[in-house]
Amino acid sequence: PTVHFTDSEGTTRDIDANVGDSVMETAVRNGVPGIVAECGGSLSCATCHVFVDESELDNLPEMSEMEDEMLWGTTEDREDNSRLSCQLKVTEDTDLHVTTPETQV
Ligand code: FES
Repeated sequence: PTVHFTDSEGTTRDIDANVGDSVMETAVRNGVPGIVAECGGSLSCATCHVFVDESELDNLPEMSEMEDEMLWGTTEDREDNSRLSCQLKVTEDTDLHVTTPETQV
């Protein structure tokens, strides 16, 4: 599985991800900038905000009410393709493109 992280300047990093990790963990483990993840994945910080490639949104599991609520608290305003990356699990088939916001805090 691969996660492609593009930062706000347009630089893309293609990362080999481990099945079972979240997209947030994949970023943190590999030193990908742009994801802060203050709460460590417990859905209480909203500093793991990413914008998902529109064409890939439907492949993702639906967001929980809690994630939806937390997305109103992101530093860079949410868009229709916003998700919290700690809630996105890497699977065997993952080939996901996300963009990180300019700032998380
Ligand atoms: Fe805190 Fe995702 S890491 S909400």
